[in-house]
Amino acid sequence: MNQDYEQFIGKVYRKTGVNLAFYKEAQMKRRLTSLYEKKGFTSFSEYFQAIDCDPVLLHEFLDRITINVSEFYRNANRWNILENRILPEILRGSSLKIWSAACSTGEEPYTLSMVLSQYLPLNQFTIDATDIDRNALEKAKLGVYTDRALKELPESMLKKHFAKEGMHYKLSPDIAKRVQFKQHNLLEDRFEKGYDLIVCRNVLIYFTEVAKEELYHKFSGSLKKGGMLFVGSTEQIFNPGRYGFEAADTFFYRKL
Ligand SMILES: C[S@@+](CC[C@H](N)C(=O)[O-])C[C@H]1O[C@@H](n2cnc3c(N)ncnc32)[C@H](O)[C@@H]1O
Repeated sequence: MNQDYEQFIGKVYRKTGVNLAFYKEAQMKRRLTSLYEKKGFTSFSEYFQAIDCDPVLLHEFLDRITINVSEFYRNANRWNILENRILPEILRGSSLKIWSAACSTGEEPYTLSMVLSQYLPLNQFTIDATDIDRNALEKAKLGVYTDRALKELPESMLKKHFAKEGMHYKLSPDIAKRVQFKQHNLLEDRFEKGYDLIVCRNVLIYFTEVAKEELYHKFSGSLKKGGMLFVGSTEQIFNPGRYGFEAADTFFYRKL
């Protein structure tokens, strides 16, 4: 790692609490270099001086590193597996405790809430939804979306759970209320225990192997025996046994 980037990592960590050392280096460097060059800077140290005293640049930098892309029912076939194979197994208890980790602007935890509402009374499940990005969480709490986020959502769900408000769609309050949003940094903060289901999708791909391994151990420790981890469609775990998991289906891992 060159000195310019290494020092930048240290300064960013002290300023924001985000440790870029755990994000894949080549990919992150490319994203940030193209951003700072566009702004006319020539090195990471020059760029840090600027973000250190300009809140607009800092906001733009945080936006670039967090990558908030999400949508309802992302990879719809995986959600069908969740509904048809995984839920019947974990629904044996009377209530469910669920965590949507790195939930971005809320599409994933709200999808969970809609799916679960078909099988359980609303007061029998809770969904913790966390992300490192406060701006994304503020948007999530509003529960207002455009067509783009909703294109995979079945028509029946759209009709049942959303109200059209001009160009936007507002999620119904009873579905929204099952989800509790909270800021949480996967690489720094404590993990709660006792989950039946943890959904963590499309964030682990940005992390180094070392960070991923640590997170698999921590997710495993957070799940109840028999609980499930649901990962993204490019995030298969190659050696689940090492972390106390077995494959339950593609992209689903059962805690042993
Ligand atoms: C591409 S989105 C994934 C959203 C959703 N899970 C999905 O699959 O549609 C990645 C999210 O990971 C969050 N993120 C990045 N680093 C994180 C960290 N260290 N801790 C918690 N969340 C993080 C970003 O803020 C962003 O909202």
